[in-house]
Amino acid sequence: TKLDMQLGAIEKGGYDHFMIKEILEQPSTIFDCLRGRLETQNPSIQLSGIDKYKEQFLTGQRIIILACGTSWHAGLVAEYIIEELCRIPVEVEYASEFRYRNPVVHSGDIIVAISQSGETADTIVAIDQAKKNGAIIMGVVNAVGSTIARLSDTGVYTHSGPEIGVASTKAFTGQVTVLILVALKVALEKGTITKERFNQLCIELAGVPDKVQEIFVQNDHINKIAQKYSHLKDALYLGRGYNFPIALEGALKLKEISYIHAEGYPAAEMKHGPIALVDESLLSVFIATKDPYYEKIISNIQEIKARKGMVLAIVSKGDTMISGIADDIIEIPEIDELIAPILNVIPLQLLSYYIGVAKGFDVDKPRNLAKSVTVE
Ligand code: G6P
Repeated sequence: TKLDMQLGAIEKGGYDHFMIKEILEQPSTIFDCLRGRLETQNPSIQLSGIDKYKEQFLTGQRIIILACGTSWHAGLVAEYIIEELCRIPVEVEYASEFRYRNPVVHSGDIIVAISQSGETADTIVAIDQAKKNGAIIMGVVNAVGSTIARLSDTGVYTHSGPEIGVASTKAFTGQVTVLILVALKVALEKGTITKERFNQLCIELAGVPDKVQEIFVQNDHINKIAQKYSHLKDALYLGRGYNFPIALEGALKLKEISYIHAEGYPAAEMKHGPIALVDESLLSVFIATKDPYYEKIISNIQEIKARKGMVLAIVSKGDTMISGIADDIIEIPEIDELIAPILNVIPLQLLSYYIGVAKGFDVDKPRNLAKSVTVE
């Protein structure tokens, strides 16, 4: 009815879809995630959920991260960050695999369960089993009071607000933000990073909401790129280091929303298979912001161009090298490489959104997908 339509429009805050509303909300959802936790005057991080289990985090021999879908990608980003900052070995597992494979879990192991809904059946069963083996469960959950939040011994909420669009966007950046906070806090307590590096990362983290907002200046530009590539059949997403999981997430978003076949790969693995697919009709999306892999990524881009593939690159603002080689670029404000994944995923969310809309799909309810998978 007309009233239903009007109510729907109000819920969407004047936007056409929840997905774009939620993408554009990220400056404030990330701010809410940091609020009351990150102090930048005299940099410090308050997380009562970690304080409660401080001893276990300081002595823990390993961390196992369990999740599904987009939350699993946040776990992969966290693996790189926690190992780098805290020097604790991290494993990231699909909850669905973990629960059926008689995994080795010791008492004292720390399990981090990441879930937007807190209701994903595979994740619930997996942590339940680990708990019986004596592991400590830390939930990184968005939905307050959800099953996973209640099953967890401790946790840190993402505070991203209700996420309605089936494809996860703001919950993902909330998860990565929380996991960076956790890693920084544990690393400082453990003494595995210097106070200077800690301070610097805290200040950079506090700057993320403004930098996300800065990316939105290019929305029309990203929309134009989306129109150009909306006819695509296949796409490759390539990144290295902290941005390898972002390549996976970018590819997942494109599949979910635009029904375009897409695969994410570590850029260096491209020569072990995906490069065989490259021709004029294949788009390779590179995450190529300034980091220690930058030169290597440039040669990967050149390899694609030499085979006549199309290249869209996510680059650091002011990059002149890649703009000369790639077909299209999207610029990201400069930020420490450890935090860059939060920014780099944003244009990939927008790209899949605009392509989905260009193709006339119901981006909030992609076919065959559910927001929360409560059956196995
Ligand atoms: C479904 C949703 C995804 C989500 C995944 C895990 O597949 O469509 O967006 O990433 O479940 O959900 P969770 O609520 O546990 O993060």
